[in-house]
Amino acid sequence: MSESNLITITTYEDAREVFRQKDLRQALYDDGDVVMADVLVNLHGDEHRARRRLENRLFRRDTHAWYERELFPPVVAATLAPYIAQGHAELVTLSHQMMMNLAALTAGVDRPLGTPEETFDLYSYLMLFIEGATLAHFAGDKTAKRSEVAAALRAFDAEFLQPSVERRRLAIQQCESGQIDETDLPRDVLTVLLRNQDKLELPSDVVLRETCFYLLAGAHTSATAFVRTLHNVFQHFATHPEVEAEARDDVGFLQRCTHETIRLQPSSPVALRWALADIELSNGVRIRQGDKVEIDLNAANREPSVFGENPELFNPNRELPPGVWRWGLSFGLGMHACIGQDLAAGMDALGGVDDADHLYGLVPVAVHAVLRADGRPDPTNPAQLDANNTRNYWGIYPVGFGR
Ligand code: HEM
Repeated sequence: MSESNLITITTYEDAREVFRQKDLRQALYDDGDVVMADVLVNLHGDEHRARRRLENRLFRRDTHAWYERELFPPVVAATLAPYIAQGHAELVTLSHQMMMNLAALTAGVDRPLGTPEETFDLYSYLMLFIEGATLAHFAGDKTAKRSEVAAALRAFDAEFLQPSVERRRLAIQQCESGQIDETDLPRDVLTVLLRNQDKLELPSDVVLRETCFYLLAGAHTSATAFVRTLHNVFQHFATHPEVEAEARDDVGFLQRCTHETIRLQPSSPVALRWALADIELSNGVRIRQGDKVEIDLNAANREPSVFGENPELFNPNRELPPGVWRWGLSFGLGMHACIGQDLAAGMDALGGVDDADHLYGLVPVAVHAVLRADGRPDPTNPAQLDANNTRNYWGIYPVGFGR
């Protein structure tokens, strides 16, 4: 086979076409197999289709509505309460706690003790799993890190996953024997997997990694989007003080701010694929089997012909042509399009959000909770970017509650 080339895609239309190609296979997590082997985002073809079809059953509108209106609000309130009581918080830590609490519910990871120590313990596992998934970018000794992550997976399995599996197996048995109703089963990924483990021939190590993957896919992306959105909203209020009082309580506006933030700062700046066959794009670009294709999301999401004037600026009131999403291509497209998109960012509010059925998504709802508690940047302790990475993550973001 000829040498592999890297082909970079920078335009919006080319990116859309590439995302839809069946002969391009996921390449973003190539070194991350310790956590990512055989998880949904790494599968291809029939295997991917079968797993996705199964998990799609959970990510339906009625489940989203139940998560957003019933399950999540008390968790958001309980996570915020101690910070509001003390009058201040550091948003980066708070964001990870909040989004991990929510992602654990979606993934199906129980916390039987419910203590702060237990949450901290789960959080430490989560941070290690993120390092494991993104091992390609790890600067230190990769072999040592891989072993550390593998050991953490085993410990997580014993401490968190197996008790969660046991509780669900019992509930599934009770449901099958008619003791409890279908609607009393936990509504999470782990339950869906366990109910169909035989049909899909899922070994227990795949169930373990798939659950961990959902924990990190849900928590990390939403946590970063939450802090970045709040920052953009605070900046917007500083330059448009006349809208602040009303906008703080306008969840539709906060949803547009979330979408605009996600467009400008996608969770991963690139999507990566391997070509399984020769492909010719409609603009004539030829991709050969074995080539690596990189979709530059920052470039595609800032194309002036699509996103209008000053596409690099944060403008939640940006007018877009029909069929263009406010978040650009930041939730992907095609077979791997984000399964948690509606859960994280709600439904696209084409023409307004007066509809009582509208879902806003957990990031806008959590942003609203901070603003409703009168959260604002701490003038005595300015936020700082994390100097240890190049992805513009915030390192610390101190806020106060109340004036
Ligand atoms: C702001 C929040 C989020 C962003 C920006 C985001 C972004 C993305 C992107 C770009 C992809 C496609 C990756 C690719 O094409 O290579 C993806 C896939 C995925 N996301 Fe999200 N995501 C978010 C929240 C969530 C949440 C809350 C969940 C869990 C409930 C989730 C679960 C997944 C899963 C399982 C996939 C793989 C889908 C597949 O391969 O079929 N994401 N996400």
